[in-house]
Amino acid sequence: MLLTVTLNASVDKLYLLDRNTLGTVMRVREVRNSAGGKGLNVSRVASRLGEPVTAMGFVGGHTGRYFETLVADCGIHRAFTRIQAEMRNCVNCWDLSCGQSTEYLETGAPVTQEEAERFMEDFAMNLPAADVVTLSGSLPRGIADDYYATLVRMCHNAGKPVLLDASGTALANALSVKPTLIKPNLDEIASLLGCAPQTRREQVDALRTLHRGGVACAALSLGAEGVLAVCDEGEFLGVPPLIKPQNTVGCGDSMVAGFAVGMARGLSMRERIRLAVAVATASALSIGTGEYAPEDLQTLLPMVQIHQL
Ligand SMILES: Nc1ncnc2c1ncn2[C@@H]1O[C@H](COP(=O)(O)OP(=O)(O)OP(=O)(O)O)[C@@H](O)[C@H]1O
Ligand SMILES: [Mg+2]
Repeated sequence: MLLTVTLNASVDKLYLLDRNTLGTVMRVREVRNSAGGKGLNVSRVASRLGEPVTAMGFVGGHTGRYFETLVADCGIHRAFTRIQAEMRNCVNCWDLSCGQSTEYLETGAPVTQEEAERFMEDFAMNLPAADVVTLSGSLPRGIADDYYATLVRMCHNAGKPVLLDASGTALANALSVKPTLIKPNLDEIASLLGCAPQTRREQVDALRTLHRGGVACAALSLGAEGVLAVCDEGEFLGVPPLIKPQNTVGCGDSMVAGFAVGMARGLSMRERIRLAVAVATASALSIGTGEYAPEDLQTLLPMVQIHQL
């Protein structure tokens, strides 16, 4: 079972508009509601890959109850911690005339100290049944900067591999406790290092430093160029075939799902990377975030090239 953690989840609303013109009244052609947050993308993709998933995080109010029905509709088991405050909404206005999107992200109400502690207890209870754990996305207000570090430590103590996909201080503060895998993108590794690694050589060096620091697999996602991974098993570059992407938002989350499922199934590192790149690329071909067509995955799997460096 894959245990996914999304501390800052939301109900996401996608508004499809013929044209998005600021300062006017616009009619929404279609509304699509979904359970949002990076860990929910991981959950949906892993679940579609056939892996049993339990999703955790904070939910509150009527929006939280609605959120849980959206999660259940995806066949994902729920183990959310209920909090007092109403859950946030995030709105994405998609302009059909040009394919551009404008996003409005609510900050969300703060989580209280008591609620933060209650989550830790719930996490400890769910951990024994997990094969692999993923921690994804930003921390809500009220949650301490070292919260992920504590969760990573709990995973280590329970002997569970833990994948962390976060940015900024949430990521930086958890590195010292050595998550099993991290998957920054180019922006995230630049802010981690304080400068952007430009060449492939500099990228490999940056990943080697993270790996030497105790991260068993430091994977840098490179958009259309695939993924560079420095791991205990070796150094690899996984390259997808050239595609015409439809929506690349959440592709990194799909990649995390691929790594987590590959790990839960005991695949070799080469095959884990193949699955991660193929499912991420398949989700770039799909309009929906955290979605992919199984036939695209089957087509892409043999087309991913794995180079050992
Ligand atoms: N244009 C593309 N063509 C082919 N594959 C892509 C493309 N964009 C993304 N991918 C696949 O998705 C993976 C992750 O993409 P990316 O590096 O953009 O992640 P990210 O920035 O973390 O995304 P997010 O945080 O929105 O989920 C890539 O390594 C690649 O396998
Ligand atoms: Mg990402």
